[in-house]
Amino acid sequence: MLGMKTIRLNYLMSLLIAIICITSINSCEEERQEQHFYFVQITDTHFETGDNMDRSEKAVELINDLPMKIQCVVHTGDITTDRLEDKQLLDSCLSILEKITVPIHYVPGNHDIFPERLESTCKVYKENFGGLISQAEYDNVVFIFVFTEPLRKSFTIKGYQPLKQLEEYLKKSKGKPVIVFHHAPSVDDFYNNEFHKRWKQEIRDKWVKLINAYNVKAVIAGHFHRDEHHWLEDVPLYVSAPISGWWRRQATFRIYEYRNGKIGYRTQYIE
Ligand SMILES: [Fe+2]
Repeated sequence: MLGMKTIRLNYLMSLLIAIICITSINSCEEERQEQHFYFVQITDTHFETGDNMDRSEKAVELINDLPMKIQCVVHTGDITTDRLEDKQLLDSCLSILEKITVPIHYVPGNHDIFPERLESTCKVYKENFGGLISQAEYDNVVFIFVFTEPLRKSFTIKGYQPLKQLEEYLKKSKGKPVIVFHHAPSVDDFYNNEFHKRWKQEIRDKWVKLINAYNVKAVIAGHFHRDEHHWLEDVPLYVSAPISGWWRRQATFRIYEYRNGKIGYRTQYIE
């Protein structure tokens, strides 16, 4: 009898171990399969000058025709050059950008909201493109869109404190992976063979410290009209070249691929 009991016990133990193994294999498979998606960045469209309208229209056509599933498009600022309040121009911009068939998110650039016409630029931006800080979530990854020009150019907007509000959004993400989008990168701007310092060191240090204090997987920006890659301590900073033709650039946009916390990208040229 004791022998039978031992056999039964062994059988039950084996069954239990098999169930645990199958469950853990399944959960590993799920982990491996989760969080793989694509999104697009366009930046610095500067509608109205040169052939920037045509460039944007072609970009929209290509984005809508991409063979991979795109979660969203993020426009990282400088929609026009200081002319957002021009209703006719604004309507032309929107008529092109609204053709994008996936959700589009924006962050304001230095040519969208600026101190010289703060009230009117803020108003038109908020009415047509969204808040100064906002968020979205795709596949359990939190996208935060934050207006950082007050940090870079040291001006204030009543009721808006970028670092404080960004921290609130980061806290709300509850440890989920985060991607932070803004317009002008926090690193020095290098062109014509020299550095152009923009962010005050003290503000930059606070920005980098905050970014590194949470589960931020990348910071994505535009503004430089160049392709650049930097590190904000442990967090990569990706800077995309623009749609617009300054610096005689060919129009480009980027397709990012997010896979389990790692982010890569492809640059697309527009003929
Ligand atoms: Fe800019």
